[in-house]
Amino acid sequence: MGISPADFDFVRAIVRTDSAIVLEPGKEYLVESRLLSLARAEGAGSVDAVIDALRQRPTGELRYKVVEAMTTNETSFFRDITPFDALRLHIIPDLMSRRADRQQLRIWCGAASTGQEPYSLAMLLREHFPALHSWRVTITATDLSRTVLAKARAGRFSQLEVNRGLPAPLLVKYFEREGVAWRVKPVLRDMIAFREMNLVGPWTVPDADLILLRNVLIYFDVATKRQILGNLRRILSPNGYLLLGSAESTMNIDDTFRRVLVGRMTSYQPLTTRGQAA
Ligand SMILES: C[S@@+](CC[C@H](N)C(=O)[O-])C[C@H]1O[C@@H](n2cnc3c(N)ncnc32)[C@H](O)[C@@H]1O
Repeated sequence: MGISPADFDFVRAIVRTDSAIVLEPGKEYLVESRLLSLARAEGAGSVDAVIDALRQRPTGELRYKVVEAMTTNETSFFRDITPFDALRLHIIPDLMSRRADRQQLRIWCGAASTGQEPYSLAMLLREHFPALHSWRVTITATDLSRTVLAKARAGRFSQLEVNRGLPAPLLVKYFEREGVAWRVKPVLRDMIAFREMNLVGPWTVPDADLILLRNVLIYFDVATKRQILGNLRRILSPNGYLLLGSAESTMNIDDTFRRVLVGRMTSYQPLTTRGQAA
């Protein structure tokens, strides 16, 4: 027997309030399978037991765990590759020439999941931009989920995970064997600060020259996307770059960004009040 309509509505309302993730009707199977995994992890016995416990204490720690269980954390090293080509060939060189006087580069990777995205970026910087060694480079990586952040911080990945997108020379250079897993070497781990941040909670990230917010806006409704893009616009420096996922865009949501084609990738830059590039 599947999850009842009342239970589905109860759970999806909580998930919507706390994370803005929209669970449309038809996603009952997803809610149920995620709650089943949670029930097993919590020793709760069944999905019904989890929902009952949540109804009894709707503001407790279980609420966070239910919301976290509904996040989709799919990611991989150098995911979609095109953005990383654009970063290497166009965006980082452009930012370096514009920031040469300050020798500072501030990067924020929002919704970073288990860390493959910020680690890919850190490898790209180390491999192709040796001049940055003497710069102040900060990479802040955030996510709503404490579980994925713990994994990202540890930098420990399975063979299957490193097989997805990580070129062998980079694996050998930046990872060391740890039992059957691979662990990111400190030289890379130390480049990234991982922090918890809810995109619909208080914004605790500093201003940034480059923002990667990829494959997360798809989970939100238009009003939430607009709110988040407005916040991004405020912290993105003039001439800074915003990269979204390939299925995401600012179009018809926020017209204070201009679309900039970099290589084969669309990126976004702030417009000035006169509608020009900053
Ligand atoms: C599909 S992953 C994307 C990972 C990475 N950016 C990539 O493109 O490979 C989406 C991530 O967004 C996070 N997320 C979902 N809702 C969020 C919210 N309201 N605030 C912060 N992170 C959120 C999830 O926990 C998940 O790790």
